[in-house]
Amino acid sequence: MIKKRVLTFEGSTHTVTWNGAICTHAQECIRTDSKLFEKGRNPWADPDLVEESELDRVIRRCPSGALTYTKNDGTQTEQPASVNTATVIPNGPLYVRGDLKIVGKDPENPTSATRVALCRCGHSKNKPFCDFSHVEAGYVDAGAVGREGPGLEETGGPLTIQTNPNGSVRLIGNVSIRAASGEIRWQGPKVSICRCGLSKQKPFCDSSHRDSNFEAE
Ligand code: FES
Repeated sequence: MIKKRVLTFEGSTHTVTWNGAICTHAQECIRTDSKLFEKGRNPWADPDLVEESELDRVIRRCPSGALTYTKNDGTQTEQPASVNTATVIPNGPLYVRGDLKIVGKDPENPTSATRVALCRCGHSKNKPFCDFSHVEAGYVDAGAVGREGPGLEETGGPLTIQTNPNGSVRLIGNVSIRAASGEIRWQGPKVSICRCGLSKQKPFCDSSHRDSNFEAE
């Protein structure tokens, strides 16, 4: 079941938002030594307890983008990372960071983001985003990245995330793929990532979705 709960925590200068529909429970928020979040406290998040620089640093730790913040006067938004990265999580999603443009039903108006978790198992009910269904589905992938890619001259710039109907998710723009080992293994200007969970060359699409009649939509 998709958690649609959205919680907001308004402070005197900043507001923190948690979107339960895309949270992957990485627990970066409650494991930080910052007072911004405290498990069991009410409220769980209190933007008034930290300086803006600490708030920015802690919120950025959230790999799924479930946690975001805004300045109450509307003058500031989180700046994207200077390097676009996609990190393969063992038995889990693909964490993507950078200057992200997510193409949805209206291709002319993509949604901007700085951090997302993309489903790799094929079972999310909130595709293309991870909703933690990989645990119940028993998805298994060690997180190796077996190819090196064509390489990059630059590592930043806009990175478009676009899904193929009932097929892969495409990353279009400079991107570096980090294996579960922590090493950057693949770099290039575009890549198709498996989201049906069946590729024999994960994290890359190998067209296995066609044989399995994968239905994403
Ligand atoms: S989406 Fe899985 S092989 Fe293409």
